[in-house]
Amino acid sequence: MGFFITFEGIEGCGKSTQLRRAAERLTREGYDVVITREPGGCPIADAIRAILLDADNSAMVPLAELLLYAAARAQHVAEVIGPALREGKIVLCDRFTDSTLAYQGYGRQLDRELIGQLNTLAAGDIRPHLTLVLDCPVEVGLGRAMARINAASTAREERFEQESRLFHERIRDGFLQLAAAEAGRFLVVDGSGGIEETEDLVMTSILPRLPRR
Ligand code: TYD
Repeated sequence: MGFFITFEGIEGCGKSTQLRRAAERLTREGYDVVITREPGGCPIADAIRAILLDADNSAMVPLAELLLYAAARAQHVAEVIGPALREGKIVLCDRFTDSTLAYQGYGRQLDRELIGQLNTLAAGDIRPHLTLVLDCPVEVGLGRAMARINAASTAREERFEQESRLFHERIRDGFLQLAAAEAGRFLVVDGSGGIEETEDLVMTSILPRLPRR
C-alpha cells in the first residue's frame, strides 16, 4: 500500500502550487509520485468537473452538486487513486473528501452526517494518511484567486469565486474544525506567507511521515 496525501484549503490558499512543488521535491528524492485533483483526475470525472464549475450552471441545487462531487470521486478513486496506492505510489491529491465536508457541509450547510456517508460510499476504504490544510485569511485567498482569474480570464470556471465572503469564512472555519477533530491525520500549515517559506513548512510536515522506502 502506498501513501495518500491530500491538500486542502480555501480558494487561493496556495495548495495547488505547494502540491506541485512537493511532487517535484519527492520525485527528486526518488519517490514514485502521482499527482491528481478533485473534482476531476480522469476523463469521466473531468467531464463532471466541467458541469460543476460552469458559471452557466448557477441554477444547480446544492444536493445535485453534492451528488456530482460524489460521482466524480467514485470514478476517480476506482480509476486512479486506488490502483496507484495498490502499486505502492505516493499519491498527492488536490482536494478530496474534506473539501466536500467544508464546501457542501460547512459552506452550503448540507447535513454533514449525510456527506460523511456519501464520502465513504464514493471513496470506500481509501482514506488519506495525511491531510495538509493550507490556511490563510479569506481576503488573502480570494485576492490571490481573483488576480489569477483576471490574468487567465477563465471566466467559465469562476462560479465558486463569486460566492459570498461569508460562505468562504464558513469553509475556512470548517477546515479548521475538521483538522481539530482529527488531529492525527491533519496538519494545518500557514499559507499566508511566501511560496518558498510555505514549501519548507509543507516539506517538514510530509517527510517525517512518509513510509520508509
Ligand atoms: P478548482 O478550480 O480546482 O479550485 P481550487 O484551485 O481552489 O482548488 O475548483 C474546485 C472547486 O470545487 C473549488 O471551489 C472547491 C469546490 N469543491 C467542492 O465544493 N466540493 C468538493 O468536494 C470538491 C472536491 C471541490
